[in-house]
Amino acid sequence: MKLGVFDSGIGGEAVADALRKTFPEAEVLVVNDRANIPYGGKTPAHILRLTDAAIQPLLARTCDVIILACNTATALAIDALRQKYPAQKFIGIEPMVKTAAALTKTKTIAVCATKATLSSARYARLVRDHATGLQIIEPDCGEWASLIENNRMNRTHIERTINAVCEQGSDVIILGCTHYHWIKRLITDLAAGRAAVIEPSEAIGRRVKALLADP
Ligand code: DGL
Repeated sequence: MKLGVFDSGIGGEAVADALRKTFPEAEVLVVNDRANIPYGGKTPAHILRLTDAAIQPLLARTCDVIILACNTATALAIDALRQKYPAQKFIGIEPMVKTAAALTKTKTIAVCATKATLSSARYARLVRDHATGLQIIEPDCGEWASLIENNRMNRTHIERTINAVCEQGSDVIILGCTHYHWIKRLITDLAAGRAAVIEPSEAIGRRVKALLADP
């Protein structure tokens, strides 16, 4: 089995690591687009154009599935890519709003994601379908992907954001950008006793299995 993984940067490596654990036999090919990171502040048309160009090596290698391991690319590009390449299976990653809605007791959740994801129609639909009536806090994480990519993320910066969303009553924090998977442990420690931290690494493995079993 050949799995293609795309992200603008190192978020894809976090997802690829999880996939290699779930599918030790699989060949996991990872491509990124570090020259254009961050995607999160770009326009929808630009994100689509960049994502389309960046996945060409994966399309050329005929992967069983291409995983857009990027919430931003999923939000802005997956529909158009499915239309353009109908023979190719794609899996995308989206903020786990439905799971958070099922978990929250305070009826308040926080979604940490890029500006492009939070402004997208797909995200608006997720919220409308699964989180009506909940208070949703969307802290400004605009700098996070670049800071993580360049290994310059600092604890104080994250601590301020996590404390703020917990103080506003969030008891679930969604990591809606795969770059943030690399700081999940830190966020989990900072939120301990106040909020659960969720991201989709395990769910992606299950989705790949389901898609390949039932095409
Ligand atoms: N890792 C990407 C995501 O999941 C975003 C990083 C970027 O802004 O390029 O949304």
